[in-house]
Amino acid sequence: MNYQKIITSIQNQLSSIQYTGKVASYIPELETIKATKFGMHLHCINSGHYHFGDNTEKFSIQSISKVFALTKAMLLLGDELFERVDVEPSGDPFNSLVQLEYESGIPRNPFINAGALVVCDVLVSKLENPKNDLLDFIQKLADNKNIAINRKVFDSEKKHSYRNMSLLNLMKSFGNIKNDIDIVLDLYIHLCSIEMSCEELSKAFMVYANGGKLLYNQEQIIPSRKVKRINAIMLTCGFYDEAGEFGFRVGLPGKSGVGGGIVALYPGQYTVTVWSPPLNPKGNSELGMYSLEQLTTLTGLSIF
Ligand code: DON
Repeated sequence: MNYQKIITSIQNQLSSIQYTGKVASYIPELETIKATKFGMHLHCINSGHYHFGDNTEKFSIQSISKVFALTKAMLLLGDELFERVDVEPSGDPFNSLVQLEYESGIPRNPFINAGALVVCDVLVSKLENPKNDLLDFIQKLADNKNIAINRKVFDSEKKHSYRNMSLLNLMKSFGNIKNDIDIVLDLYIHLCSIEMSCEELSKAFMVYANGGKLLYNQEQIIPSRKVKRINAIMLTCGFYDEAGEFGFRVGLPGKSGVGGGIVALYPGQYTVTVWSPPLNPKGNSELGMYSLEQLTTLTGLSIF
């Protein structure tokens, strides 16, 4: 496969594409990022790297962190976790409250905000220093100690957390949040405000393309059965009410964030990260989705 030629072709196409999306503004600090930023980084399991643009510039990973949080909670708790959070696509926006009311405070899946907040509640219960432990875990996946939060993004989201506070209060009223809601929210926002580049995310996600083994030393840090399940949840729930569209157009498991990043992976082949801040109405990077659709179209490879 001539990945270099394909990545160059995507780069060339992007120069003539007009986007209509908008950079996220409900977390004011995210709105300060230039809309024209674009990075793409493909990391092949055989160690080949193909990239262009702002692929080494760090950006706010936002909901992409929900994959790391879920992984850690699955390692700590096992199947018990899925008594408190389901694994069904929600078909609703990522910050929606409606289903919780008639589904007894059990979120549809771990990648909508409600589900990620339950995951954070589990991490607060199980870990002495959840913030540090999670950062250590991500640094280990990425084989990189230079991964941290952006304090301005953290403070900015903290000041505008009305929705997430509502979700926590509603779930607490159903008994599905065990800890103090401020502590759970603090961990959730901490994870969302982590910054990583396309290159770093592609490396960190390689464990999900490599059956749970770190590519750089082949240590099995996630059992392969759990990786199968995490990839399945990425495929069915990684893009909120656009998960069907992403499967239809791209055909890979993946996860997006409102910082404009999307990570996707082809098990046994590669991981790929794109970053472009303007979001479509469903909160997913408009040009990111386009580029990944081109990648699977031009390679003729998807999991289907
Ligand atoms: O809770 C929030 O609203 C953000 N910290 C994360 C949302 C997000 O990234 C949804 N992604 N598309």
